[in-house]
Amino acid sequence: MSIKQPNLLLPAPSGDLQISELPSATSDEASALLSFSLVVPTYNEAANINKIVRILSQILDEIIPGDYELIVVDDDSPDGTWQLALSLIAEYPQLRVMRRQHERGLSSAIIRGWQVAKGRFLGVIDGDLQHPPHVLLQLLNAIQEGADLAVASRHVEGGGVSSWSFIRRFLSRGAQLLGLIILPRVLGRVSDPMSGYFLVRRSAIANVKLNPVGYKILLEVIGRGDIRQIAEVGYVFCERKEGESKVTWKQYLDYIHHLLRLRLSTFQIRGLSVHNSFPIGRFIRFGLVGLSGVFVDMAVLYLLSDPTTLGLPLTRSKIIAGEIAIFNNFLWNDAWTFADVAMQQKQWHQRLKRFLKFNIICLAGLVLNVLVLNLVFNFIIHNRYIANLIAIAAATVWNFWVNLKLSWRVTQVK
Ligand code: GDD
Ligand code: MN
Repeated sequence: MSIKQPNLLLPAPSGDLQISELPSATSDEASALLSFSLVVPTYNEAANINKIVRILSQILDEIIPGDYELIVVDDDSPDGTWQLALSLIAEYPQLRVMRRQHERGLSSAIIRGWQVAKGRFLGVIDGDLQHPPHVLLQLLNAIQEGADLAVASRHVEGGGVSSWSFIRRFLSRGAQLLGLIILPRVLGRVSDPMSGYFLVRRSAIANVKLNPVGYKILLEVIGRGDIRQIAEVGYVFCERKEGESKVTWKQYLDYIHHLLRLRLSTFQIRGLSVHNSFPIGRFIRFGLVGLSGVFVDMAVLYLLSDPTTLGLPLTRSKIIAGEIAIFNNFLWNDAWTFADVAMQQKQWHQRLKRFLKFNIICLAGLVLNVLVLNLVFNFIIHNRYIANLIAIAAATVWNFWVNLKLSWRVTQVK
């Protein structure tokens, strides 16, 4: 069922960033409906556009011939990407091209593409081949099997990044951490909330006014959509061969702006409370393990710093006590609190990676702990043991949530 594509550009929608429901199966337009619409946002991708359209068409012609469309949304690239894309339409009948001249930005480009799409499933993939096209097969399978959202993730089994510098990894994880603090119930649902490669069921985001800023369209979909079941597929984020990344400091500021906007505008996000209950059972177990760590912490603090024992300086003793307690807690959490997850990741290097992450997160928790201890001890309650208890409680909440999401990667994914 090939689409007769008028050889001209798609009109760029304007107004609200809102996607309509598909026309009902009985209506006249029903015949033009498709299963899948994949948006490829482009800005200065002249060096990549030919190859990505060819590879995507080859893959989709294999699995859903004639039942998909590729929608290239180009923001009037100075390098003429949109013209090159237009010239490919003759060869690739499923290809449609939009040239935006009055709007700019990755997330809004994707939504404008989805607004003109005819598919029951909507997808996005970058136009620079850093997202491996073959992963589409697994994503499509997952969504055809019932998932509302299928995300390609760098942080699950089989996932990773090929050549990111330590700084970029640190910034990416730091951004995720910040998001987990500001919007835990959105970012906590997936292991890679920064992913720009995913498929979503149209009905889950139809008739919802989307309002993204910058790059992170997935946050908008999870935050405002009616997303019940999520599937994740591991993928390796490849090195860019042609062209440049458009990521600048502006994207990081946009991200913080987006987090705050989502936080403020959707306090009670539709449907979240139903699908995303707080893991009380795990928290209690984590707390009990933490309690055992408190005894270890206190015992070591006493042995090291009490005037009647070694009488070492408070802060140094505290850090040693904390480190020993961390090791104790990791062992118990891996064996009990998160036993179900740890069972699926049994290999030694996986355990070691978990312990290192746990350690880094808990060390950050220790810094928080020492800060709160000194704040409370010096300005609120002049009793080192009560101040220490309050500090440990604050650190426990931090340690639980961040380790749940990053070390043992517990998400809402079935
Ligand atoms: N239409 C349009 N308008 N497209 C854009 C714009 C824009 O303003 N800015 C970037 N793009 C296109 C690029 O041409 C590319 O196809 C895609 O969006 C991703 O842009 P990059 O600049 O290559 O982003 P990145 O590789 O650094 O980061 C990507 O991967 C990360 C990991 O999944 C993005 O998808 C990030 O959102 C994602 O976190
Ligand atoms: Mn890229």
